[in-house]
Amino acid sequence: MATATNMMHIAIARPPSTFSSREASKPCVALFTSNITCAKLKASSHISSTHSLSQNVNSTPLRFGRMITKAMSDSNDVKPLPGLPIDLRGKRAFIAGVADDNGYGWAIAKSLAAAGAEILVGTWVPALNIFESSLRRGKFDESRVLPDGSLMEITKVYPLDAVYDTPEDVPEDVKANKRYAGSSKWTVKEVAESVKEDFGSIDILVHSLANGPEVSKPLLETSRYGYLAAISASSYSYVSLLQHFAPIMNRGGATISLTYIASERIIPGYGGGMSSAKAALESDTQVLAFEAGRKHGIRVNTISAGPLRSRAAKAIGFIDMMIDYSSENAPLQKELSAEEVGNAAAFLASPLASAITGTVLYVDNGLNAMGVGVDSPVFKDLDIPRGNKN
Ligand SMILES: NC(=O)c1ccc[n+]([C@@H]2O[C@H](COP(=O)([O-])OP(=O)(O)OC[C@H]3O[C@@H](n4cnc5c(N)ncnc54)[C@H](O)[C@@H]3O)[C@@H](O)[C@H]2O)c1
Repeated sequence: MATATNMMHIAIARPPSTFSSREASKPCVALFTSNITCAKLKASSHISSTHSLSQNVNSTPLRFGRMITKAMSDSNDVKPLPGLPIDLRGKRAFIAGVADDNGYGWAIAKSLAAAGAEILVGTWVPALNIFESSLRRGKFDESRVLPDGSLMEITKVYPLDAVYDTPEDVPEDVKANKRYAGSSKWTVKEVAESVKEDFGSIDILVHSLANGPEVSKPLLETSRYGYLAAISASSYSYVSLLQHFAPIMNRGGATISLTYIASERIIPGYGGGMSSAKAALESDTQVLAFEAGRKHGIRVNTISAGPLRSRAAKAIGFIDMMIDYSSENAPLQKELSAEEVGNAAAFLASPLASAITGTVLYVDNGLNAMGVGVDSPVFKDLDIPRGNKN
């Protein structure tokens, strides 16, 4: 069975119909120093209707060690763009927590790619097969389109379970679980080692993952197991990612996580210790900004994002209410798009934010600034501008 460690995605950012014989001798977007050409890769692919080519590394002599990545190949001829653009050409990003095209991780990957960064992703092991096969089958092609019309390339998908730091931490029942059995090297330490082996270094690290098994229980009813599991998956996972990836991050690099206002204000329904986990994540952002700044010269920030109808948020059960609440009460009465969070992340990752570290950046249409819910009937006689939805 194909796994993320032995499959790599080589995306060609142009429709297959434009693939000409003249181009057949040109190297592919993800270039190999060997004489393998787009034509050979295309011929060896099982997929003809999508823009992703797959090559089984185990069954071919191809090795990542001999691969010239897009970031490496572009970095020699990076020329300044006019204006004050977010320019991430020549940078490489690892985004942990992408398993479909609905969440913040995907949107951040797209914005980073639009700014020119090379994209690697870490996908939760149980979600890996479906994500990879959807990618291969072209299910995400529409949402891979970047502002310039090209398609986002994902150079490699790594299996990841951020709850485990090293292979020694993995319990036997998880090792034996059939959802894990087909993959290998998915603990945080091993993924960082694989990225180092494949690409040498990264510039941007994104943590876009969370899990709280008892999220729908009030904190007052949450078990110790549920509380600690939420902290482990949603907060310590970031400490662990930084611990293992910071040594392979280039100086001037940036890391970003995603938090939620429930860390500092009461949001009924966001239970199971998830509010505590986000509070820890925000506090850790400050301490890690100091420690990783001093030791590795990298920046650490978190984005407090407004509500988005992602897979994880739908599982909590009240996301539509939160979206409605925001549009009734936030200073900006519009639905937040994932792209707005992606663009803020691209800014934070860019040299334009070179003096910003240890911060919580709110990307929530301003909802965090409100002290009251203005849709309350008690305000009915107050002259509050309403209905300016766009
Ligand atoms: N959706 C919202 O309304 C909202 C608001 C504010 C903050 N956030 C935060 O944004 C981040 C991304 O969430 P999202 O809402 O975009 O949903 P999402 O479902 O797109 O992302 C969550 C990801 O976490 C992954 N994951 C879960 N456990 C994991 C583990 N042990 N190891 C590796 N990956 C694991 C899932 O597979 C999934 O891909 C989370 O930190 C979330 O708390 C979301």
